[in-house]
Amino acid sequence: MEIILAKSAGFCFGVQRAVDTAYKEAGKQHVYTYGPIIHNEEVIEDLRKKGVLVIEDLAELDQQEDETVIIRSHGVSKDVMEQLETRHVNVVDATCPFVKKIHTIVQDESQKGNRIIIVGNKDHPEVEGIIGWCETKSYTVQSVSEAENLVKNIENEPDFEHINFSLVSQTTFNKNKFKDIVDIIRKKLYNVVVHETICNATAVRQMEARDIAKTVDAMIIIGGRNSSNTQKLYDISKQECENTYYIQTLVDLDLTTFESVSRVGITAGASTPNYIIKEVHSSMAELSFEQMLENDESKASIRQGEIIDGTIIGVKPD
Ligand code: F3S
Repeated sequence: MEIILAKSAGFCFGVQRAVDTAYKEAGKQHVYTYGPIIHNEEVIEDLRKKGVLVIEDLAELDQQEDETVIIRSHGVSKDVMEQLETRHVNVVDATCPFVKKIHTIVQDESQKGNRIIIVGNKDHPEVEGIIGWCETKSYTVQSVSEAENLVKNIENEPDFEHINFSLVSQTTFNKNKFKDIVDIIRKKLYNVVVHETICNATAVRQMEARDIAKTVDAMIIIGGRNSSNTQKLYDISKQECENTYYIQTLVDLDLTTFESVSRVGITAGASTPNYIIKEVHSSMAELSFEQMLENDESKASIRQGEIIDGTIIGVKPD
């Protein structure tokens, strides 16, 4: 079996930075992350053992003086930042700089009076954070049909031709889908400035997943259950390779499925630790080795004196 491991598999720059930050703060008193630092249960559990706890709501803070709250790579809304300031907690901001850049864009553009369109999933924490930096009306769309509905609603507004819009995207949004949505919006809303804010790390990962999936018999996508970028890798891969499997860790992998596979691809979401990728890769390598041994044994069984293509195999010539 040939195993192709995507070069881009695993932590992206922003996630690595956030996880490193959490481990750096571990050991201090009262350290919290606002939401799980990454979509990976093993890492969260390891951090918990080291004293870094997850809070989902600022009300969970103990109001102690030496509390530290780490903001994860997804970022948070302006309102959350202000609430943290008023609580006088020590804020360690690990918002990915690429997400931070979107906060700045939407804040600046809305201060100019432009309405903001965000292409992304409105329930994703990154998008929730972005919405929280808009100072004018904002809209979120994640499909062509949602974009069509949005355009229809805006067209019904009086004087809609004079409304200006700025459009950004969630960093992990699918490039092709983004293009389709922008095409719809641009056709009807003339005053729209498009800021393509899809992160390059995401685009490269998605492209590589597609390229590998096209050439293999089976594809393994590794990532947390709630990781939207892993889900997108799965969707992209599934379009190209029917036998695509989404796993969280090695435990979810049924090796028997791959016994007759001759070429397998492996990639992973941006919040998948390297050790999990290595474990999966090693298991597939072991399976490949076993396949090789089995093949050798079956070849060996026909070697003793059998004639293949006119040659007697395994018998020393006189
Ligand atoms: Fe940042 Fe891109 Fe990762 S936006 S968190 S480097 S996917």
